[in-house]
Amino acid sequence: MKTVTSPAAMQQLSLKFREEAKTIALVPTMGCLHAGHLSLVHTARATADILVVSVFVNPMQFGPGEDLDAYPRDSDKDKQLCEDAGVDIFFFPSNDAMYPIGHSSFVEETVLSRELCGRLRPGHFRGVTTIVAKLLNIVLPHRAFFGQKDAQQALVVRKLVSDLSFPVEIVTCPTVRDTDGLALSSRNKYMSTEERNAALCVPGALEVAEQAIRSGTSDARMISSAMQEALKRTPGVKVDYVEVVDPSTLEPIVAISGPALVAVAVRIGRTRLIDNRLIGGPDVEPPTPWLPPSP
Ligand code: PAJ
Repeated sequence: MKTVTSPAAMQQLSLKFREEAKTIALVPTMGCLHAGHLSLVHTARATADILVVSVFVNPMQFGPGEDLDAYPRDSDKDKQLCEDAGVDIFFFPSNDAMYPIGHSSFVEETVLSRELCGRLRPGHFRGVTTIVAKLLNIVLPHRAFFGQKDAQQALVVRKLVSDLSFPVEIVTCPTVRDTDGLALSSRNKYMSTEERNAALCVPGALEVAEQAIRSGTSDARMISSAMQEALKRTPGVKVDYVEVVDPSTLEPIVAISGPALVAVAVRIGRTRLIDNRLIGGPDVEPPTPWLPPSP
């Protein structure tokens, strides 16, 4: 595995791979890799000649007072995990390399980004779309892999790629959970044992929604109230939002008649957790058969 830190060197390598008709897959991450990230890496590995994993804690997607400085970093371990998983290139640029002094261009999706997390984290998705656009231009992948854990992010990235005609296929991979149901997240590291136990109310609330919908409740407001109640029963949990939305527009659903995305964001101590479940539809899009674009 080769470690590349310079964006220009990475782009040169990718241009060379493309000249040689090699296919490139990209898994963008902020590091502190866990089994959720690695599932993306394993899925991506099978689809391309060259697999690039990027690790960059993107300051632009953190708001003032958020956890940029505290965000867990362990690049030595990340490198080892990537090496073991058969990654070809570990792209690990510095802040200055990605945002040199004077950087003044941004990429923004303006509709989906305003819903759910966008309401509580203004500017977050603008930071995500800007860095993803940069990574796509630097790594030039044929396919890029994202997790359903961050359902809104995956959708916003799909919209970005479609609206701005990036020649890349976005693949969404299922959420990986601990055996007790908690979705894996780099931020789980912040929690004490007590908080970690409290966090189980999040998959618990999603289960409440699933049960209610499966047993015929179609009133979305009743479902979110039942979820709110389930969350409030756990001491120390502050609910940012509980929403039942259309999985493709993220607009609130009033009466459920088709697939619904149930999304939750809570704060437990200093940790913000998000999770979601797609109910009444296939969990994620199955990977589509893929052919390299013709030259
Ligand atoms: P990060 O939080 O490191 O996540 C990188 C990728 O891993 C994202 O696509 C995320 O959805 C996926 N992921 C995280 N936890 C997962 C889990 N439990 N199961 C499946 N996939 C999981 O998301 C980001 O970084 C950044 O916003 C990024 C896209 C890299 C842009 O900076």
